[in-house]
Amino acid sequence: MVDALGVAVVGFGWMGRVHTQAYARVLHHYPRLALRPELVTVAEEVPGRAEEAARQFGFASTTRDWREVAADPRVEAVSITAPNFLHREIGVAMAEAGKHVWIEKPVGLSAEDARAVADAVAKAGVQGAVGFNYRNAPAVEAARDLIASGEIGGVTHVRIRLFSDYAAHPEGALTWRYERERGGSGVLGDLASHGVDLARFLLGDIASLTADTAVFLPERARPAGATAGHSRAAGGELGPVENEDYVSCLLRFVSGARGVLEACRVSVGEQNNYGFEVHGTKGAVFWDFRRMNELGVSRGTSYQDQPVSTVHVGPGHGEFGAFQPGAANAMGYDDLKVIEAYRFLRSVAEGAPHGATLADAVRSAAALDAMARSAGSGAWVTVDAPA
Ligand SMILES: NC(=O)c1ccc[n+]([C@@H]2O[C@H](COP(=O)([O-])OP(=O)(O)OC[C@H]3O[C@@H](n4cnc5c(N)ncnc54)[C@H](O)[C@@H]3O)[C@@H](O)[C@H]2O)c1
Repeated sequence: MVDALGVAVVGFGWMGRVHTQAYARVLHHYPRLALRPELVTVAEEVPGRAEEAARQFGFASTTRDWREVAADPRVEAVSITAPNFLHREIGVAMAEAGKHVWIEKPVGLSAEDARAVADAVAKAGVQGAVGFNYRNAPAVEAARDLIASGEIGGVTHVRIRLFSDYAAHPEGALTWRYERERGGSGVLGDLASHGVDLARFLLGDIASLTADTAVFLPERARPAGATAGHSRAAGGELGPVENEDYVSCLLRFVSGARGVLEACRVSVGEQNNYGFEVHGTKGAVFWDFRRMNELGVSRGTSYQDQPVSTVHVGPGHGEFGAFQPGAANAMGYDDLKVIEAYRFLRSVAEGAPHGATLADAVRSAAALDAMARSAGSGAWVTVDAPA
């Protein structure tokens, strides 16, 4: 008999929907999971949105006030999928109320915010999972294993890119994402946070960095009504974009490896062009999110003119076997969130973390803070996580 775990979702935009779908699907893929998530309630401030979620997914109740979720004894675990400026307040409150939290990246607006949530989670003795979904891709796990095995030699350098066009349209609405108080550091929290997590997942901690940032579309139109995701607002009154469209960054890892990380949200012609190239003294490994289940691998003893082959990941790699019976049957983005839900629920069931944790969020946010400081001063900056 599998125990039920009462779950809630706070913020039903894109990520709220994806977390909910992951709860709905997780037992299909992981039938041996010791907990069955039960959709207790959904909190959403836009009128009607929570009710629509309840109709579609079967939440037992709805509310417009997330504080009611914190006070609800039926709720044992909470997905926090509201905008970044609410992560700290909601995350701390949920942990203090004894709820396990699965919270979206970047966990607040700064490393201090991420630290506050991490501390509250640790103090309450609950589990905390973070939405760094790209590390869940079986090919990314295979890349990490390949690097750790020494097959590509000692890692010399990595290039990590996150290019997207989601903010490229000049009529893209001035939503919370473009305000410093509610969206934080723009593309740093949105995309570079994933890049830092991938860098750390593959190569270990970053010691120091230097960065440059830019805002390429300085004004956007204010939306007339509620928004979700990347809405348009043609003809609205113009307001200033307060945070970064672009960041480029040189990295020095604790291991001595070097790296380049570049992220942009206004890259016309780029749709989720996220990936990495890791180079070692004997080989290299390449990954592109758009071909998520493939890995380019160069290994051998040739050094020069060494071929690159394509590996289609399969049931032997990461969690692939929970989704498809054989290599080259494609997994997709939402599957990465099902893996995240599985790891979160497994953490709760076993009382021990699996997958990305709030400690990872603090380290990622510390690197983002360092990027912002370096872009201001032009200097190399040490990446220190707040104590
Ligand atoms: N892991 C990923 O790949 C990924 C992708 C996209 C977004 N995210 C993260 O997920 C979070 C949400 O992003 P999104 O794209 O879903 O945004 P979104 O704008 O689509 O959704 C946010 C939702 O929260 C609601 N909301 C705002 N204030 C609220 C409040 N006080 N109480 C309840 N609901 C409230 C909004 O009305 C909206 O429906 C962000 O932190 C973002 O960084 C992660």
